[in-house]
This record gives sequence, structure tokens and C-alpha cells, in this order.
Amino acid sequence: MIPYDGASEMFQDSSKPLVLAPMAGFTDPPFRALCHEGGADVVVAEMVSAKAICHRNEKTLAMLRSFPGERPVVWQLFGCDAGELADAATYIESLGQADGIDINMGCPMPKITGPGAGAALLRDVDAVSRMLQRVARAVRLPVSIKMRTGWDSKSIVAPEIAQAAAAAGCAQVHVHGRTSKQLYEGYADLEVIARVKAACPIPVIGNGDVTTPEAALRMFRETGCDGVGIARGALGNPWIFSRIKSFFLTGQLDPEPSWWEKVAGAARHFKRALDFYGDDPSCYRGLKGHLVKYFTGHPGASQLRHRIGSVQSNQEMERLIAEAGAAHPLAA
Ligand SMILES: Cc1cc2nc3c(=O)[nH]c(=O)nc-3n(C[C@H](O)[C@H](O)[C@H](O)COP(=O)(O)O)c2cc1C
Repeated sequence: MIPYDGASEMFQDSSKPLVLAPMAGFTDPPFRALCHEGGADVVVAEMVSAKAICHRNEKTLAMLRSFPGERPVVWQLFGCDAGELADAATYIESLGQADGIDINMGCPMPKITGPGAGAALLRDVDAVSRMLQRVARAVRLPVSIKMRTGWDSKSIVAPEIAQAAAAAGCAQVHVHGRTSKQLYEGYADLEVIARVKAACPIPVIGNGDVTTPEAALRMFRETGCDGVGIARGALGNPWIFSRIKSFFLTGQLDPEPSWWEKVAGAARHFKRALDFYGDDPSCYRGLKGHLVKYFTGHPGASQLRHRIGSVQSNQEMERLIAEAGAAHPLAA
């Protein structure tokens, strides 16, 4: 059965990347490596503060570590001072582990927008233009931006900002099809992403609500974008990238991963984290948010999620994952 005519044409051209979009608190090196293995062409690390890098803040510098084999990886900076953004980008370039620098223009959180960073940058196209020129001149790495469609529904500026980014020397723009004021309400506006693509001479990555292969196809078809960014759809589901590619190549939907495949995926994720964080005794804490996602939507999952929430040690987490196969009603 070929449910969507022409789906297979989509990946004849391998220059249409599937991108793991950044998620603060989630897109750490182990998860990025799993997404690469799951078929992501490019992974973007969670945003880090340009100011904190300039001050060589230890915690922030630790966030610049990567997992062997996770390339290509893009580092995302947030900030509103052009000099700091340029210096932080230069520092990241000097570490020799980055394949690109992305500037965050989408974060709607008041602690980021208050000082003028994240989505607040969308309120001044001229300032964005000057800032991006300065960053793009400072590094040899490709510079990109990731933005919302605008600050609110009365100021949809993404097409203008994309043009400014291209003129400033940026290599790519990534658009989440919601305004900052919308947060995560409603649906991503594919029409605005299509307008960005039409206005902009550099590649456009379309982002928002791609949680299935069909949604990825719709994003490509309705916007004409050059690549698709996936964030929440990859949580507990790092296979999504290869499922999309398989759909595009064959026109057929692979079956959803089974409960047991998800248990094995969760175990692999935890092992990756222990390998990366060197058996940090509190490794299980950072994994809780990820592991509950592997078990969403299955019978018996809510009980398991509850148990994950009360885990107090790495050993307990390991035991719980090992028992999870047997916890499925069909395994009884
Ligand atoms: C928990 C969480 C953290 C996020 N952190 C970032 C971030 O650090 N930088 C960024 O540009 N976007 C961030 N985003 C936005 C996502 O990259 C993406 O644009 C948004 O979730 C819409 O895509 P999706 O529908 O595929 O999730 C975050 C989203 C979530 C849910």
C-alpha cells in the first residue's frame, strides 16, 4: 500500500535534512547520539548563554561537551549582546567540535525574553540584522537562526527576519510556526513557514508538531521547506527520523516500535547516559523526563511512569527498566 503518492520522491534528494531541534533539559549528548543513530541528519544542542560562555562559567562550559560520534552537531546560543554572541561563537569554534552555530530567537520564557534575548529579538529587525552580521563575520562555521513566526499574531516578522539573516551571511533559518505569545497553543502555522521559504534565499527548516511521518510529509509539501525540525516528537522516540525516511523512501509506514523495543530503547538510553556521565550517582534524575516518554500511550504505562517518578538511584532505575518488559499486560 502506498498511502501517500509521491512520498518516496521526498528523499531522492538527500539534501533534505531531518534535524533534532533543541530542547533545554533534554537534548544532551546521550540523547543527541541516540537521535543520530535513529536517523537524524543534524542535531542541535540545547541553548547555552553567550554571556555565561564569555565569563567561562564552568557549568555552561560543561554543556559544550559532546558525545563521540554525534556529529554533525550545532550549538545554540542565546543572548542579546552582539559582541557577546560573537565572542561565544568564536570560543565554541575554537573547541573544534561544532559544525554550526545557531542563535536562539524563539525562546518565549520571560527569564530569557526579559533581558531582550530569545523571541524578544524578533521585535527589532534592524538590531537582528546588525547582530547577525557581527556573529557571521566572527566565525568560519555556518551561522543559523531558530525563530518563532513573530512576537505575537499582530507582528509576524519571520519572512523579514529570514531575509535579514540571509543578507547578514547566515547559512540557514529554522522556523517554529508559532508566535512567542502562543507558547505551545494551537498548531504550527505552515502558511507562515511557506512565506518564509518563498522570501528567503537560504535553506529553511520547518518546525512544529511533526510527530509522525505523515506530519513530516505535510510540512515538506505545504511549506516547500528544505528540511524538517523535530523536537517533542523525538522524546522517547529517537527512531522517528528513520521511520520518516523509510516512509519517504518506500511510501509505507513502518509499524510503531513495540513495547519491548521501547523498553530496549529506554535501557540503551540509560546506558548511554551512564557511559557519558561517568556513572554519576544522580544520573537517573536527568533521565526521568526522558524515560517516562518511552512508555507513553501503552497499557500499564501510567503505573510505570509513576514508578519512574519515585526512583531514587541509578541501580533502582536499571532494575525498573529491566522489569518493564514483564510489566506489560501482554507479557503476563
Ligand atoms: C522542553 C523544551 C525545551 C526547548 N528548548 C529549546 C531550546 O533550547 N532552543 C530552541 O530553539 N527551542 C527550544 N524548544 C523549542 C523546540 O525546539 C521546538 O521549536 C518546539 O518544541 C516545536 O517543535 P515540536 O512540535 O517538534 O516540539 C524547546 C521545546 C521544548 C518542549
